[in-house]
Amino acid sequence: VDLLLEAASGTAVRTVLDLASGKGEASCVIAERLGCKVVALDPFLPFLRLSVEKTHRRGVDGRLHHVRASGRLAPFRDRSFDAGLCIGAPSIVGLEPALRELARLVRPGGPVVVSDVIFRTLPAQPTGKEWGWLAEIEQFSAGEYAQVMERCGLEVERVVVHGRNAWEAYHAPMMLVAAEAWANGDTAFAARVDEGIELERRGVDAWIDYATFVAHVA
Ligand SMILES: C[S@@+](CC[C@H](N)C(=O)[O-])C[C@H]1O[C@@H](n2cnc3c(N)ncnc32)[C@H](O)[C@@H]1O
Repeated sequence: VDLLLEAASGTAVRTVLDLASGKGEASCVIAERLGCKVVALDPFLPFLRLSVEKTHRRGVDGRLHHVRASGRLAPFRDRSFDAGLCIGAPSIVGLEPALRELARLVRPGGPVVVSDVIFRTLPAQPTGKEWGWLAEIEQFSAGEYAQVMERCGLEVERVVVHGRNAWEAYHAPMMLVAAEAWANGDTAFAARVDEGIELERRGVDAWIDYATFVAHVA
């Protein structure tokens, strides 16, 4: 979010698209900090509901609008937005379709910031079931990912590979949720959360990093 705010500074930004906005934290911060209109798009109703509640609590309801749709085919005209972002989700939405939609929907020259899992080193062996979702995603290095972005009409200005502390910050609230679930006897859920964190930690040790790509529409 800070990288988007930085990229947006000095340009006129009146409308921002948060593609795959999830529970809306980034959308809220952007609406608060830029004082502009933000469209939060996600197909998953429970997340949208949480995001709407958050929007009311934070007093940004006038500026933040929710749209239930797929980021593969967003219901907006070309060049409807001054800036766009997709945090942790392009490869979940579908990498090329998500990037192409951002390039279509944001005006030429407008900043687009995306972040995703990338591979620091490629696995020596084909990854098996024990690697869960990590075995299923496409294995791009940061450079290869940037090439896909360029192919989709986004000119990459900067790649920031986040340190291990970013993963720790990401896992910390999940660990609290798991601890609460263990305490409440919801052991199946607690175990699932713990296993997910453990899988990602193994992945980070062996192969993956998390990177943010700062770009603009060509
Ligand atoms: C890892 S979460 C990231 C959410 C949010 N950007 C954040 O940083 O908290 C992935 C999000 O992608 C959304 N998603 C899945 N398929 C999608 C699609 N086809 N179009 C748009 N969003 C999608 C999910 O509902 C979920 O909210």
